[in-house]
Amino acid sequence: MKVIAFNGSARKDGNTAVLINHVFGELKKEGIETELYQLSGKKIHGCRACYKCFENKDKQCSFKDDVLNDCIEKMLETEGIILGSPTYFADVTTEMKALIDRAGFVAKANDDMFRRKIGAAVVAARRGGAIHAFDSINHFFLVRQMIIPGSIYWNFGFGREKGEVEKDEEGIQIMKTLGENIAWLLKRIYG
Ligand SMILES: Cc1cc2nc3c(=O)[nH]c(=O)nc-3n(C[C@H](O)[C@H](O)[C@H](O)COP(=O)(O)O)c2cc1C
Repeated sequence: MKVIAFNGSARKDGNTAVLINHVFGELKKEGIETELYQLSGKKIHGCRACYKCFENKDKQCSFKDDVLNDCIEKMLETEGIILGSPTYFADVTTEMKALIDRAGFVAKANDDMFRRKIGAAVVAARRGGAIHAFDSINHFFLVRQMIIPGSIYWNFGFGREKGEVEKDEEGIQIMKTLGENIAWLLKRIYG
């Protein structure tokens, strides 16, 4: 069993990555494979609304000029998908929105190909808007018929500078419990 996490931050190895790695820690303890895919520095553009994915039905976006199809391939290979994003203006980053819109449309065009995979959102913020970013990600999981485990609070951690989120003890505990719950669910659905 494997969980792939996408970090939508423009900042590689920042707070979102730290939070995701705490989720991964619990998954690894349960023997679940993990992979972190960081969008930072990679080219990914928004949906161009060509609707070719509904014509082609080949599990790909017709625009092959960026990393989106690699991301979709990785999502297809795994039982669990984490979408992580820092909060930018009370929402997800542009990179994460591009991934959501295009992977979401391709999945719909192909018989909801992420159906019944496990999905979890992870959000970093300095101060406000994290719940909105969290909701944006969960809208994707729900409308693609994915299954969402919870934690002891909504899945966000607070900090501004790189690594500062480590000081948010409750945030770290939320991620650890989330990791335990993802592992529990994975084993029951796919074990
Ligand atoms: C363009 C931009 C917009 C931001 N908007 C918000 C915001 O609306 N609310 C907030 O709490 N933090 C905001 N932040 C701060 C980041 O969410 C915060 O520093 C987060 O920890 C960054 O995570 P990262 O290290 O994974 O990039 C913003 C940062 C940037 C660069």
